[in-house]
Amino acid sequence: MLEVRGLSRRFGGVRAVRGIDLDVPAGAIVALIGPNGAGKTTSFAAIAGFVRPDSGSVRLDGTDIIGWPPERIALAGMVRTFQITQPFAGLTVAENIRIGAFLRESHRNAATRLARELGTELGLGAWLDRPAAALTVAGRKRLELARALAARPRLLLLDEVMAGLTPTEVNETVALVRGVRGRGATILLTEHVMQAVTALADRVYVMAEGAMIAQGTPREIAVDQRVVEAYLGKGAAARIADG
Ligand SMILES: Nc1ncnc2c1ncn2[C@@H]1O[C@H](COP(=O)(O)OP(=O)(O)OP(=O)(O)O)[C@@H](O)[C@H]1O
Ligand SMILES: [Mg+2]
Repeated sequence: MLEVRGLSRRFGGVRAVRGIDLDVPAGAIVALIGPNGAGKTTSFAAIAGFVRPDSGSVRLDGTDIIGWPPERIALAGMVRTFQITQPFAGLTVAENIRIGAFLRESHRNAATRLARELGTELGLGAWLDRPAAALTVAGRKRLELARALAARPRLLLLDEVMAGLTPTEVNETVALVRGVRGRGATILLTEHVMQAVTALADRVYVMAEGAMIAQGTPREIAVDQRVVEAYLGKGAAARIADG
């Protein structure tokens, strides 16, 4: 469904993303992991049209979408969430979700209905008419997810929707993401919460310093020497093996 080839982007002297390849098959949950600053969010931004890549191709259902603005990409079915949530603080939770709904629904009442339904489904029922500014971290993450879902994506890019959540909230969010896939959406997610990656991902890609260094099932990735070293430093895998 999504096919990324040779994607690159630099910021001044920083090569944030260095020629990465990535495939997301329809119906899958694919995780993109890596240490802080690896280039995950920049990859998402380049894939979803928020940042122009320096080179490479991004194909959505076979169509090259490089250069398309985010809204056109969203209309084609690919929607991202933001790692740093920025709801309109003065609007209510329902009004914020409705912003996503307006992508495909021009009728105000229908958009409102969809926003309230999704908000309730995601556990924000009691918050719908309160200002978004009143939400907790977990609430903001749910709002971000609801706003993206309101745009009815076929391919959903989730950027660290578990960050800052309690273990119970992580479990709830894992169930929510499964539910989203169950309703037919394909998912690409970045996550530092490894328990969630293991629970959700069919396939895991690992980035470090802008490059793709490994890919495999969650099991394969957990014992991959390059991955261990990317997180813990060079020689770490050998030190662990030596006890
Ligand atoms: N707009 C920008 N301007 C300059 N440098 C940037 C910009 N966005 C990202 N970078 C740099 O690009 C590199 C990759 O950052 P990115 O946010 O993509 O990493 P990440 O893998 O998402 O990290 P994290 O796990 O902390 O979210 C970092 O060195 C970062 O400082
Ligand atoms: Mg990031």
